[in-house]
Amino acid sequence: MRLNRTCLCVLCGILTALTAWLVASVPSAHAQAKPISFINDVAPILKENCYACHDAKKRSGKYDMTTFEKMLAGGAAGEGITAGKHAQSELYALIVSEKERRMPPRKDNLSSVPKAQAEVIKTWIDQGAKLDAGIDPKADLVKELRVRWKSPPPPAKYPYPTIINALVFSPDGKNLVVGGHHELTVWEAASGKLLKRIYTRAERAYAMSFLADGKLAVAGGRPGQEGDVRIYDIAATGKAEGDVQILDGVSDPKVMIKQLVDSDDSVLCLAVSADGKRIVSGGCDRTVRVWEYPSGKLEQSIENHADWVLGVVLAPDNKHLLTCSRDKTAKVWDLALKESVLTFPDHQNPVFGIGVKADSKAGFSAGMDKQLRMWNATGEGKQIRVIGSHADDILKVVQHPTQPIMVTTSADKTVKVWNPEAGTALKTLTGLNDHVFAAAISPDGKQVAAGGYDGEVRVWNVADGMVAKGFNASPGYVAPVPVPVVEPKKK
Ligand code: HEC
Repeated sequence: MRLNRTCLCVLCGILTALTAWLVASVPSAHAQAKPISFINDVAPILKENCYACHDAKKRSGKYDMTTFEKMLAGGAAGEGITAGKHAQSELYALIVSEKERRMPPRKDNLSSVPKAQAEVIKTWIDQGAKLDAGIDPKADLVKELRVRWKSPPPPAKYPYPTIINALVFSPDGKNLVVGGHHELTVWEAASGKLLKRIYTRAERAYAMSFLADGKLAVAGGRPGQEGDVRIYDIAATGKAEGDVQILDGVSDPKVMIKQLVDSDDSVLCLAVSADGKRIVSGGCDRTVRVWEYPSGKLEQSIENHADWVLGVVLAPDNKHLLTCSRDKTAKVWDLALKESVLTFPDHQNPVFGIGVKADSKAGFSAGMDKQLRMWNATGEGKQIRVIGSHADDILKVVQHPTQPIMVTTSADKTVKVWNPEAGTALKTLTGLNDHVFAAAISPDGKQVAAGGYDGEVRVWNVADGMVAKGFNASPGYVAPVPVPVVEPKKK
């Protein structure tokens, strides 16, 4: 599989997070004189260098280090830490080992723990290898670290464009909510004017949907670190900064009103049922979750895909759910049986987007094979036909909840509009200059908006396929070379 932009973004995210951890976890020489905190100073080093092989799932050498109790108990060869004595602690000896057997293992070509960090572990052992007061020795340390992590504010002015992974029209069709870096931004669609910035804990928003009560459900996360689905009231008042309202979606409970899930990696897709009573999500943990709304009660949580779940949609019959995954399949789930009842395997490539016909009897899916396929969502799930294709990977499928309009976005820099009921292509929308990761259809079905890798947004009129507005959704960003926006000439 070739490395596409999607993979690169995930990598970048991981690297950024790595750097942040490193910087945060190397105390100065001065700080080392003070007592070392296990959770603040040591655990981040272990998470960075060891947990990949020594968590509850992998347990290499029968050693799980992700609770304090298990870390002290040791692995197959017994205890690895002798409190107060680094020289007699196998765990430390393995970290600084010059021999072939070192941790992380030399044979896996992993670099050694940096000297300053090894020194922190040594000092902590010599100070008695203690756990901070108030933490349960049985607590999941990954979660303890996550709870302590503080999200940074978004850049005041973006030095480089944000990657747009999600955008949505407001229920009145006038504004666009766009996923930024640790924030959601709200823009007037007709003028491209920035109206609001809603700071979020999530570094990226991967999917958004307005609920019947006007609240906004957002799926997102921090690649490789955490994921969440949160409900925001973006109509809440914030503080004014010039013409722009700033809302605190990190800690103001009037803005961030509910958190549905907190997971170990990004939540990548989200859907709301036609009656607004169900919210569904999927993501890197391969789990499909279904909640009741507005109670927020988790109805079911099912793992059946073998890899990341990249798309979800609820069938209009309210009985089925369709998903697609990096595992190269699309699936149909029976909500009452709480299991998948059908698998569509024909893409033979990662499947990035999913849709459903109004009668709930056919599914649509598209992905790295560049094809938009239509198939029976009942019986054996046989392909009905290929409806059309793009010149490169198809990255998202978006559907109007009631009208026969479906949109696909692609690495070929275009957006295509389809009629899913007739199975026909309607328009090809051009004007973007990079991978298109996200799209939205206005509530009245008359406009389509899309954005992607370079932060540029285009809004098109579906009727004539012309660009109505274009702007970059990165607050304060100034492109080194202005990006042309082709809009119809005003008469
Ligand atoms: C790439 C995977 C990997 C990483 C990363 C890794 N380990 Fe290991 N570790 C292993 C494997 C495999 C074993 C079992 C083989 C062995 O003991 O050499 C092991 C064994 C151990 C043992 C011996 C357990 C016992 O009781 O037998 C200790 C202690 C240990 N690791 C500590 C660490 C520490 C500390 C780190 C991080 C600084 C770390 N490991 C990172 C794969 C890894």
